[in-house]
Amino acid sequence: MISKNRPVYLVTGGAGFIGSNFIKYLFARYGDDVSVINFDLLTYAGNLDNLKDCEDRPGYKFVKGDIASSEDVGRLFGEGRIDFVVNFAAESHVDRSIIDSSPFIRTNIAGTQALLDYSRNHGVKKFLQVSTDEVYGSLDGGGLFTEDTPLAPNSPYSASKASADMLARAAFKTYGSPVIITRCSNNYGPYQFPEKLIPLMIANIIKRKKLPVYGRGENVRDWLYVSDHCEAIDAALRLGSPGEVYNIGGNNEFKNIEIVNLIISIMASKGYPGGRDLIEFVQDRPGHDLRYAIDASKIRRELGFEPKVDFERGIAMTVDWYLNNQQWLMNIISGEYSRYYDELYLPKYKNAAQAKK
Ligand code: NAD
Ligand code: TYD
Repeated sequence: MISKNRPVYLVTGGAGFIGSNFIKYLFARYGDDVSVINFDLLTYAGNLDNLKDCEDRPGYKFVKGDIASSEDVGRLFGEGRIDFVVNFAAESHVDRSIIDSSPFIRTNIAGTQALLDYSRNHGVKKFLQVSTDEVYGSLDGGGLFTEDTPLAPNSPYSASKASADMLARAAFKTYGSPVIITRCSNNYGPYQFPEKLIPLMIANIIKRKKLPVYGRGENVRDWLYVSDHCEAIDAALRLGSPGEVYNIGGNNEFKNIEIVNLIISIMASKGYPGGRDLIEFVQDRPGHDLRYAIDASKIRRELGFEPKVDFERGIAMTVDWYLNNQQWLMNIISGEYSRYYDELYLPKYKNAAQAKK
């Protein structure tokens, strides 16, 4: 039941990785003083198993729907008051956007505009657009992304997220909508779909499958534990100023090969040895951004947010979570995922083998 007295959060994409962590975060922090509507289309990445512990909360409600459908969004807003919108719903994987960009254009761009329109017409108090550092492009010559770095997206995914940011900005400038944009670096932690680097490597070591490292593994990402991202979003919603952009990052830059080697050694210490022999350097991702790194001084200075989980602890907790939740993982790997995996990776392995000859 959604109560009239509690603030009502509309969390789109709440059945995905960060969205489900954010809903848990809200209940852990505010208990039953908040109402949360999880609005999710349940694409391949949406999984209601992530939220089993929230189902009995009096303030939790799941609504299946598509943010890019004006009908679905209109029906949702017609059902009652919404105070805060946090838009996580997106197609989120770069490699999938290279195979087929169309769902990215529809969900990430048209979907964001539909939410902005209905939020404006229904007096939403704050709209937080969850964006990514990937909209800034690649740092090839050193330095850090600040909020003033020009947008220069290089993949269909990041271009669609940059488009959404522009629409969010336009809603603020044109209509005065109370829109905030956060741009976060790479997240890791529990419930991440195993198409992404860290859970993919953990899953493949468990299954003794090859570990596909793109190019030479020299690309750098700046990693943030997911609960820190959730806390930063909460701070931006409570304290952030409409029209502002806040970068969120963890000052945790690592080359991909360093991450893979670290996971291999943690897994070996947990009874899964031999990971090093599984590494396979494969054909690089087209347009692969070399380096992302965030200057997060604005959110620290203005909103007092600082990450709590250092990388060593976060990666150990993450490996433990996947080892303790292997059924969750295997349910995903045994489904549509295996078709996707073969489509993306078999040609990469074939090309790598040919290049070796
Ligand atoms: P995810 O792929 O795990 O989850 C996306 C969720 O959105 C899924 O539950 C899916 O069912 C839902 N969804 C997709 N299309 C929808 C639609 N049309 N209508 C309603 N729901 C729909 O993604 P994630 O990793 O949790 O990322 C969440 C958000 O955070 C995204 O906007 C992403 O761009 C952003 N982000 C992610 C990272 C990261 O490292 N994962 C970093 C920075 C920003
Ligand atoms: P990913 O988790 O897809 O996040 P993003 O591309 O949004 O940063 O990839 C993180 C890094 O890991 C990126 O540089 C690509 C690389 N990568 C691999 O080397 N092998 C893989 O199988 C995957 C999925 C990613």
